[in-house]
Amino acid sequence: MSETTLVLIKPGGVARNLIGEITRRIELRGLKVTGMKLMNAPRSTVEEHYAEHRERPFFGDVVDYLCSGPIVAMAISGENATKAIRMMMGATNPVEAEPGTVRGDMALTIEDNLVHSSSDPEAAARELGLWFPEGTV
Ligand code: CMP
Repeated sequence: MSETTLVLIKPGGVARNLIGEITRRIELRGLKVTGMKLMNAPRSTVEEHYAEHRERPFFGDVVDYLCSGPIVAMAISGENATKAIRMMMGATNPVEAEPGTVRGDMALTIEDNLVHSSSDPEAAARELGLWFPEGTV
């Protein structure tokens, strides 16, 4: 089923000039970019985005990190987009990510795992509302 999901390219990915490489892989897969913005993320948006992790010990660090430099927020649409993107990005901890995935090829640490992607369609709907309140194209 066609659906839309959220990808964030984190500050490390933007600093390493990986916007093009990550977007290239998504487009080659046959998925469509239906929203894209380079931005300094408002702290309040990042805190809401990671609300489910509020009690975890890394919450402050992950919020600080997302606010440490520009990020790219992307809406990605296509058949089973959420699952397809999750598989392409690889395991959250890059040392467990398969070669051929974005994290398996380009990241090494969980603190700087390059990208965030929505875990399921319900999370995608919530996160898209946060990052693209104006809607997507
Ligand atoms: P992300 O998919 O953006 O969702 C939460 C983020 O917290 C995760 O990727 C990691 O970058 C970050 N993080 C930092 N430490 C941990 C940890 N111990 N377990 C899970 N996520 C962590």
